[in-house]
Amino acid sequence: MNRVFSDDFVADPSEEPIGPHLMPLTAHADEDDALVVGGVRIDDLVAEFGTPLFVYDEAHLRARCREAVAAFGSGASFATKAFLTKAMARLATEEGMHLDVSTGGELAIALAAEVDPSRLVFHGNNKSEEELAHALHVGVGRIVVDSFDEITRLIAFGDLGSTRLSVRVTPGVEAHTHEFIKTGQEDSKFGLSLARGTADRAMAVLREHFGEAVDGVHAHIGSQIVDFDGFVAEIEAVAPFIAIHDLRLFTVGGGLGVAYLNGEVAPTITQWAEAIRVACKGAGIDERVQIGIEPGRSIVATAGMTCYRVGTIKEIEGIRTYVSVDGGMSDNPRPVLYGSGYEVFLARSMSAVRTRAVRVVGKHCESGDIVVDEGRLPEDVNVGDICVTPVTGAYGFSMASNYNRVVRPPVIFVADGEARVVVRRETIEDLLRLEP
Ligand SMILES: Cc1ncc(COP(=O)(O)O)c(C=O)c1O
Repeated sequence: MNRVFSDDFVADPSEEPIGPHLMPLTAHADEDDALVVGGVRIDDLVAEFGTPLFVYDEAHLRARCREAVAAFGSGASFATKAFLTKAMARLATEEGMHLDVSTGGELAIALAAEVDPSRLVFHGNNKSEEELAHALHVGVGRIVVDSFDEITRLIAFGDLGSTRLSVRVTPGVEAHTHEFIKTGQEDSKFGLSLARGTADRAMAVLREHFGEAVDGVHAHIGSQIVDFDGFVAEIEAVAPFIAIHDLRLFTVGGGLGVAYLNGEVAPTITQWAEAIRVACKGAGIDERVQIGIEPGRSIVATAGMTCYRVGTIKEIEGIRTYVSVDGGMSDNPRPVLYGSGYEVFLARSMSAVRTRAVRVVGKHCESGDIVVDEGRLPEDVNVGDICVTPVTGAYGFSMASNYNRVVRPPVIFVADGEARVVVRRETIEDLLRLEP
């Protein structure tokens, strides 16, 4: 098995057509060699909705949710930060997942989607009084407590109603991933330290006030993790805390990574679940303790892709070719934030060998506005072509901005030959709406 590389790794760009492991489940080439997803041709979608465009394969989203639920039942919560719209909140809960929300905004979207509040887990290292009051008022299933200031706020409310509490601990584990998305180390804004006894003190105070409603622990080591060693270390670090405090829920946080490039492969959710179960057993965690996970990226990343139109091609002799598209860092900030690599291909020629080395860039006023740093496209790429970056379903739409006052793209779900608008394209009127 090839090793999967972490986010900051730049692989040799591949000339091969895009591997099926980077494509949504229903993606295939039709008789014209054109890309079809969810039974809909991408060029038809682009003709109808324009570019840039986020396209999600609903069958793929549902399959990943089902896989998580098959492994963890109600312990599987979809991390909405990776991709949240009302339609996604509904889809994930229809498939049996709970939802992890970490701001008042994410909570509001889940509630607007009419998700049962008892299926919501509320996270965040700086939940405001208003956010906590609202979460308790609507009756979220669980709040993951992250600081003593939050504990003070909760005590001031007095009554938790039906809401249960977990304590977020820092397990002191350094995951092998990009620095900005590591979360489990001691030097972290998240959680309360196991090693320094802060988490034990938090448990004592919470139990004194809220008794048996304080029944869970959450730890998180980071995102885009493909090496199970970090999870094993996390589980071993947290196991004594579970036993000492007689807890009933252990959320093994840390996001499973996905493959972004042709040469990469990633473990499946099922393999990940098995590794977690084995490690929990090995660490002596009581079988009655429910094990939870909070996958975001591994549910949605490969389900989604971004379609752009090529606007200019600039050949700088002896240096490189710049292919400019009509989006960029406003719809996918990951390359500029983490140095993330992507593949790129033309929607009209799926099987074409991609021999032309290019840098795909956006339309923003920064040299760092890179979509694919070292990409490959077919030799005949031309202005007007639709190029596609696969595996953009996580942290693309959710981190999108209006930088340079660019309007954000729509989100389209495709399934069984039908396309539905889940989020419409922003307009200039939307941009102006907030200004008096
Ligand atoms: C608390 C928490 N849960 C879940 C996630 C989702 O992680 P991923 O998208 O890598 O699965 C994150 C991401 O950092 C997180 O901080």
